[in-house]
Amino acid sequence: MEPVKIGLLGLGTVGGGTVSVLSRNANEIARRAGRAITISQAAAKEYSKDISGLETVGNITDDAFAVVNDPDVEIIIELIGGYSPALELVMKAIENGKHVVTANKALIATHGNEIFAAAQAKGVTVAFEAAVAGGIPIIKAVREGLAANQIEWAAGIINGTSNFILSEMLLKSRDFDDVLAEAQALGYAEANPEFDIEGVDAAHKLTILSSIAFGIPLQFDKVYREGITNIERQDVAYALELGYKIKHLGITRMTDQGVELRVHPTLIPHRRLIANVDGVMNAILVKGDAVGPTLYYGAGAGSEPTASSVIADVVDVVRALTTDPGNRVPHLAFQPSAMSDIAIKPMEEVETGYYLRVLAVDKPGVLSDITSILGDLNISIEAIIQKEPEGDVADVPVIFLTQMTREKNMNQAISKIEALASVKDKVKRIRVESLA
Ligand code: HSE
Repeated sequence: MEPVKIGLLGLGTVGGGTVSVLSRNANEIARRAGRAITISQAAAKEYSKDISGLETVGNITDDAFAVVNDPDVEIIIELIGGYSPALELVMKAIENGKHVVTANKALIATHGNEIFAAAQAKGVTVAFEAAVAGGIPIIKAVREGLAANQIEWAAGIINGTSNFILSEMLLKSRDFDDVLAEAQALGYAEANPEFDIEGVDAAHKLTILSSIAFGIPLQFDKVYREGITNIERQDVAYALELGYKIKHLGITRMTDQGVELRVHPTLIPHRRLIANVDGVMNAILVKGDAVGPTLYYGAGAGSEPTASSVIADVVDVVRALTTDPGNRVPHLAFQPSAMSDIAIKPMEEVETGYYLRVLAVDKPGVLSDITSILGDLNISIEAIIQKEPEGDVADVPVIFLTQMTREKNMNQAISKIEALASVKDKVKRIRVESLA
């Protein structure tokens, strides 16, 4: 049988890795896919001539639309990233009847609904395993491996850059800016690193994961989002004193009031396996009603780990080339006609525990003012630590750990605490999850 011809868009970090792995493991991959796979065309504005296996690529052009319009190409791999021209290229590929494999989480999270509708109408596949957690096959695990379950919740470390920064701050007492610069130099960070540290990248990935878990349309605009820019070294240390680690988590949970969809720094008990996932590694906990909790761990970014997911999707598409389109694995796990319109739960209704760091004047009565505010709002305190004043500074940090309460109660409590004359700064709030 003729090899399947691929058009590869982008020869950057992941594109280069895809060429290398596809050429290095060509025999193994063909034995799995049932046919040889060849990159007949690649498009890139600039690329390194040192990519291993580059000689196996048929033709390299700077015109991505020419690749998408090449009638011999059956599968397009989109590794350009960003919204435009990635969206136009993917839509053109679909219009031309080509299957698409992409690692583009921003594209899928924000335009996935229209992309999948077009693909469904045309009878082609759009596969995106590499869009969530790089090399970890989490899409396949949730969409296929856990298909028997009602998914109850999923929580994950899904931005390697943020996890690297938090880990280095904790393990090596390094400063935020210094670690971010290293993450950029190592090629983990997004082109715009604000996407990493402000939680946008994690929100893209969580949007996709939530849709696959619960059979709901992609709703990136409904994600509650906080990044890690407000986390200071002292919070990491105080949390540890209380028996917690701070991780930037994406959390989605089915509740009677709707689906929780939120990314924010979170205190988690330090003994949990996921609390010990450090550096750029990603990990995702998924709880299904039948299977119980399951944990997926691995490289969430990087050239060959992400290429591993891209090529796995290509193999799936090659295997499915002869399958009736109606019987292929649905894009968002559930059949398009069986999607649910359950609402996303407003953040104000979400219940969690809270870590609060309050900078207060060191004088009698201050603690009782704060505990009264919490008590009046029915917020129960689990632990308090008051630190010694440092040097000449008269104000002291007081750390509160609360039991579960509703976000809107905590918003009120924080406003009242910040209004006290004895409180000297904004209250630092980090949510707590037991993940039990
Ligand atoms: N910037 C992303 C991260 C890359 O740090 O996880 C993988 O999506």
